[in-house]
Amino acid sequence: MVSFNTVTEMLVMAKRNLSHDEWDYINGAAESETSLRRNRLALDCLAFRPRILRDVRNIDVSTTLLGSKLKMPVVLAPIGGLQRMTKNGANDVDKAAAECGIMNFISTVTEPSIEEVAANSPHNKVYQIYVRGDDQWVRNLVRRIMKAGYWGVALTVDSAFYGNRERLHPSLIATRRVAARDWQKGVTWDTVKLIQDEIGGKPLFIKGVMTAEDAALSVEHGAHSVYISNHGGRQLDHVLGNIETLPEVIKAVDGKAEVVIDGGFVRGTDVVKALALGARAVGIGRLQAWALGAGGAEGLVACLRALEIEITTTLGLLGVQNISQLDSSYITKAMPVRHPHEHSAFPHLPEDRML
Ligand SMILES: Cc1cc2nc3c(=O)[nH]c(=O)nc-3n(C[C@H](O)[C@H](O)[C@H](O)COP(=O)(O)O)c2cc1C
Repeated sequence: MVSFNTVTEMLVMAKRNLSHDEWDYINGAAESETSLRRNRLALDCLAFRPRILRDVRNIDVSTTLLGSKLKMPVVLAPIGGLQRMTKNGANDVDKAAAECGIMNFISTVTEPSIEEVAANSPHNKVYQIYVRGDDQWVRNLVRRIMKAGYWGVALTVDSAFYGNRERLHPSLIATRRVAARDWQKGVTWDTVKLIQDEIGGKPLFIKGVMTAEDAALSVEHGAHSVYISNHGGRQLDHVLGNIETLPEVIKAVDGKAEVVIDGGFVRGTDVVKALALGARAVGIGRLQAWALGAGGAEGLVACLRALEIEITTTLGLLGVQNISQLDSSYITKAMPVRHPHEHSAFPHLPEDRML
């Protein structure tokens, strides 16, 4: 039985359980880690404008993503190498997602296999594609994904090169320089078309959109969802914090696709800020990995329950009963109050930064 009272305690447990290498793999980002910090900074630069004296006895945090019901507006972002964080790898994530009524994205580079995760639970899930071969390889992969019964597919488009993550142990960096990764350099809009030809209208997410221009092109190329992400700052350094890009993307998409966003989201308040600015759902990456490190599937369920409580509390204190009542009038610009980093939303950690 995994037991922690706060996410801060969960982080301490994760740090204790995970090896130094795994901890750095999860937390690290590219080069100067500016993109990572900007994700947090951009969230910290937004404040709420709450409304008062409204009846908030019944709060509903549920929503839908492309017609699929979510018990809360959160999805589990794809994470590679889950088997290094929790015994049953992606099956543990899948179990927690099913139990909490949310959707999970299964990475190409995690274990167990496509079919094993599909058989783990019947709930809707998305398979995230990295390209590791030629067009025929992509076709075969998508056919396998469809045959296994996945609800949707996400193509990650921010990884033509592998970001230089300097926290990684040199031996780990070496293992990541695999030749098959070079196929990513040839991923283009033609790849999107190729995937679409195989999925027959099933939900398609383009993950890694960082500009209004590419959001518009995604819609033009038939994506059902534009997934704003800078890969948690792990790929190109010196991009904007993702939530800064959200308004321009919402404008460019113009209601023709649903927008998902991730990057630095670790609190209920973070999630609600994105919803107020027009996102449909928020992906969580590192928070998910810390929860798994702290206590596997059970740890992740406990973490998601804590997040749901935070989202509920935030809506109630803003004076709204459900997500559809949120809009940008609840948000304003503000000065950040602390130095941003991957753990800065948890100021009560025993050490300021758990390096
Ligand atoms: C340990 C780790 C592994 C990741 N692996 C993948 C992956 O295999 N595919 C992918 O599209 N994104 C991957 N990502 C990026 C996440 O899906 C997500 O975009 C990012 O973590 C969001 O930022 P956050 O960690 O600040 O929540 C990974 C992120 C982390 C932290």
